[in-house]
Amino acid sequence: MLTEDDIDPRLDLRAEIDRLRREKNAVILAHYYQDGEIQDLADFVGDSLDLSRKAAATEADVIVFCGVRFMGEVAKILSPKRLVLIPDMEAGCSLEDACKPDVYRRFRARYPDHVAVTYINCSAEVKALSDIIVTSSNAEAIVNQIPPDKPILFAPDHHLGSYIASRTGRTNMTLWPGACIIHEQFSEQELLKLKAAHPGARITAHPECPEGILLHADHIGSTRAILQYVIESPATEFIVATELHIIHQMEKAAPHKRFIAAPGADGSCNCATCPFMARNTLAKIYLCMVNGSPQIEIPEDLRAAAEKSLQRMLDMSVSIPPAARNAAE
Ligand code: 13P
Repeated sequence: MLTEDDIDPRLDLRAEIDRLRREKNAVILAHYYQDGEIQDLADFVGDSLDLSRKAAATEADVIVFCGVRFMGEVAKILSPKRLVLIPDMEAGCSLEDACKPDVYRRFRARYPDHVAVTYINCSAEVKALSDIIVTSSNAEAIVNQIPPDKPILFAPDHHLGSYIASRTGRTNMTLWPGACIIHEQFSEQELLKLKAAHPGARITAHPECPEGILLHADHIGSTRAILQYVIESPATEFIVATELHIIHQMEKAAPHKRFIAAPGADGSCNCATCPFMARNTLAKIYLCMVNGSPQIEIPEDLRAAAEKSLQRMLDMSVSIPPAARNAAE
């Protein structure tokens, strides 16, 4: 098993990853929150829904998933015949950590008549305990397909849950009290100061942001929707309230526009970097492809149970077309 210490510093990692991709018939999928250099070598860059669809439909033998662990798990659940590699098994998610399967199981048991709608940022175990999985781009459309009189349990992101409840007008949603550490740190006060300094800037925010941030947003949407918004908007300056690596795609797609990362309580944008996503590096991508490890393995009974709620999500998302553009191209 090669380690980082074995890598010759003169090695062209990008060229080696390309060689391995061809040799192993691998596809490299990356989330918008990955470092720019990782996005640039991926075959496909997208949001959680588009990445799930890509993983489900791929004909490659190997999926190298550059994101966080639950995303690699989704790829394996939907594409069980593929070898799914992730650069770092420790790339977790604060929302997943906030919703432990045993605690969720007990919570769910208290609401037997509710439909369990769960955000994709959770473990395979929690997916297996849920009725329908959603992402930030399809949550509203999916909730709207559930009969209005049917109560909903929404986990684990309560900001997204509140936002969807307000969008759909549902008053019968019980929310799990989880939040994403990145979106939770944006400061309303600092955002208003920044907006005052850039009065022409449009604020675009991810629905994982707290209400105090969403209140000031000109646009709210998933990472893919945010990217589309800044490309299509006639405005030339934007304050972006989500993980800041998406700005890489914005700068590529609209180089004449200006993008400013939303601030945290100290006024800087330091809080907008996901420490889990940041664990992935070119060296770790190379190593996982050479070593065939770390790979995602899920016991078949768990995988099959989790597949049901994920498949329901895909079936209920047909009204949402695939991304108009592959940000990797
Ligand atoms: P989307 O990819 O749906 O925008 O969600 C972002 C996210 O939470 C990734 O963990």
